[in-house]
Amino acid sequence: MTARTTTEIPSDLRGAFERFPFQGAEGLHTPELGDLEKAYLSECIDSGFVSSVGAYVDRFESELASFAGARFAVATSSGTTALHLALLAADVKPGDLVLVPAITFVATANAVSHCGARAVALDVEEESMGLNPKGLSEFFESQTTVGPDGTRLHSATGAVVRAVIAVHVLGHPCDIVAISEVCERFGVPLLEDAAESMGSFVDGIHTGLFGFAGIFSFNGNKTITTGGGGCVVTNNPVVAERVRHLGTTARIPHPFEFDHDVVGFNYRMPNLNAALGCAQLERLPALLSAQQEIYRCYLGHFQDVNSVEVVSQPDGRQSNYWLQAIRLRHGGREARDAVLSLGAELGIPLRPLWKPVPLVEAYRDGGHEDIPVATAIYHSVVCLPSSPAILRPASSTLPEAGT
Ligand SMILES: Cc1ncc(COP(=O)(O)O)c(C=O)c1O
Repeated sequence: MTARTTTEIPSDLRGAFERFPFQGAEGLHTPELGDLEKAYLSECIDSGFVSSVGAYVDRFESELASFAGARFAVATSSGTTALHLALLAADVKPGDLVLVPAITFVATANAVSHCGARAVALDVEEESMGLNPKGLSEFFESQTTVGPDGTRLHSATGAVVRAVIAVHVLGHPCDIVAISEVCERFGVPLLEDAAESMGSFVDGIHTGLFGFAGIFSFNGNKTITTGGGGCVVTNNPVVAERVRHLGTTARIPHPFEFDHDVVGFNYRMPNLNAALGCAQLERLPALLSAQQEIYRCYLGHFQDVNSVEVVSQPDGRQSNYWLQAIRLRHGGREARDAVLSLGAELGIPLRPLWKPVPLVEAYRDGGHEDIPVATAIYHSVVCLPSSPAILRPASSTLPEAGT
């Protein structure tokens, strides 16, 4: 990627936006909600179980686990609270360091801060936009030593490097096999922020299951939504139990007594939200194929536009194509902003990627690594409307789940 000094938009790219296939799209990723969701919500209200205990929570957790091929799924109030609980389950404490990729939504770093630990961002790799396993390995080799108890110590600060978080950006799997090998080699637990990658697989394994735990988000803009919500997936019974316990105010099981063995959190998903989630899970296969179809439409639409490439899944990995995007071949912040402004002018909701963590105001003083690749990606990627609804003519209604 080379920086351009002018803000002129290449004429073929301007033309492609003027002939945009999804004119009138609203929002970047809006949810698909219909009669099925209404029916389950109404049933849930009639049952009286609207809070964090109820049949829908149990059903949602068991269906999630089965879809992902995980032994356990624990539903939570959001992806952020799922991350927080998973980090606590890995014993992340005040003063620890947790390594995160520079490109992610700020919630990844926030969950680390909620533990009183410090998120240190590393650079990402060009293709997947995820954590670079080579950079991770170099960080461990050159900047850490082994402490007396076998933990990894950050040489400059003496802090324990307690965990690594890998993120699957826009749903595209990062090089998670190599990352997990590095984490194993250096003895540091790996957590996957799979908030955006429900339905993305590597070697037939669902993202989220390569480290000690993974998390999904069911925020309104995700592949499936529960309004707000998330979950932790894991194959480790101790992690699952710890997450469930801490997220349920750390209540000691007892037929009637209220006692709590540590300071816990009220992070459980309410039954109402899980009811929505159960309906959405029935739609999941259709939603995933809609995301593939939107990708193919964009691939065709931009195929003759030399100045951009449509962001595709990394070779050999299966993406859910949650959020579609293009990369400007001649990136640079001005060029990207000119395209974003053109979108605003034409009424097409285009958005940049999230600001890399070290550039976010709240995280500027974090002692991060240099992030040239992440910065170039941030300056060259433009996210495109990706709602399944854009495939339907404006007048038509939502198809039944499963069709
Ligand atoms: C990569 C990533 N991590 C974490 C989150 C946080 O999830 P939530 O909004 O459900 O708290 C999101 C999305 O919102 C995300 O995109």
